[in-house]
Amino acid sequence: TRTIDLALVPGDGIGPEVVAEGLKVLDAVLAGSGVTVNRTELELGAKRWHATGETLTDADLETIRGHDAILLGAIGDPTVPSGVLERGLLLKLRFALDHYVNLRPSKLFPGVPTPLADPGEVDFVVVREGTEGPYVGNGGAIRVGTPAEVANEVSVNTAFGVERVVRDAFARAQARPRKQLTLVHKHNVLVHAGHLWRRTVEAVGAEYPEVSVDYAHVDAATIYLVTDPARFDVIVTDNLFGDIITDLAAAISGGIGLAASGNINPDRSAPSMFEPVHGSAPDIAGTGTADPTATVLSVSLMLEHLGLTEEAARVSAAVAEDIGERDGTPRTTTQIGDALAARLGVRVAG
Ligand code: NAD
Ligand code: IPM
Ligand code: MN
Repeated sequence: TRTIDLALVPGDGIGPEVVAEGLKVLDAVLAGSGVTVNRTELELGAKRWHATGETLTDADLETIRGHDAILLGAIGDPTVPSGVLERGLLLKLRFALDHYVNLRPSKLFPGVPTPLADPGEVDFVVVREGTEGPYVGNGGAIRVGTPAEVANEVSVNTAFGVERVVRDAFARAQARPRKQLTLVHKHNVLVHAGHLWRRTVEAVGAEYPEVSVDYAHVDAATIYLVTDPARFDVIVTDNLFGDIITDLAAAISGGIGLAASGNINPDRSAPSMFEPVHGSAPDIAGTGTADPTATVLSVSLMLEHLGLTEEAARVSAAVAEDIGERDGTPRTTTQIGDALAARLGVRVAG
């Protein structure tokens, strides 16, 4: 028997709603497996901030560090100034735990509605850098609120940070059948960072002669994601470009309700964190209509990361079956979670 210590950050809005279903499916797939899950739920997000002014304390971080993995719902609430929770909690976790690989797979399951008329085989993964770029908070503003205001956000790209994520992306490309890697950047304009990324891909690529490499500027990449997404296998990109193109990638491959992600610390010096790509969706929070599938697929990524490969595959297969049978009849968050758990062989009450 094995025990997994899982830190839970349900967070805000639909976060707790989708995490509940993710856990239901986790319990279902592990039933009878001999693997038990010890859960620690952390009260982080808008409620905590309103009550205490805290986003993520050192003590919270230490608690989280002691776990094998983190499952997060979503962070962000209209009652909290924009950026406070996103930066002070979510990004703080990604940075502090060195989640330098933000892994965002896109696979169009058979039968899933897509806005594309003829999508072809959509099965690619975005390796989004997770600890650098314009996200680091290296910026500032002067003369705020005056006509002379200057506001800067500086994109930080280090040779160390770019190389480690590029290496990870090449290793993933090498392990996939098509062995194809696309660098997405904007080196025609962002010449300093762009050329560092380009040189790094060229240098690391020399160690992977079987991987074919190409390049797209980020603006053109958004065209290809719509006109010819089948061309992509592994995309490696900067933190901000990766954020933007993965919402687009979600939109073409079944919608944001299906898009999963892993914030991976490949060196395993801290726990990795799994979360849906979507946010707290205040527009639908409390209505019971959020699709928990993205969280369930994030649980699958988590199982994979923990070495529970067979369980990970069973969860993905249950999702694929469920999606294949969707006929447009609306289902609640709970109904979808129940249906997935039931496919994994657990009877659901009610
Ligand atoms: P969002 O992803 O929350 O919502 C965008 C749209 O997608 C909305 O129309 C929403 O209803 C829909 N949607 C999202 N998840 C869905 C689901 N599971 N099922 C069905 N529909 C779903 O993005 P936003 O509106 O730009 O941001 C809302 C808040 O979430 C903000 O505070 C933002 O900072 C935060 N956010 C957090 C994360 C995160 O925690 N990782 C990610 C993105 C945004
Ligand atoms: C995401 C979100 C976050 C990001 C925000 C909420 C900090 O949009 O996980 O995609 O930009 O990374
Ligand atoms: Mn995003």
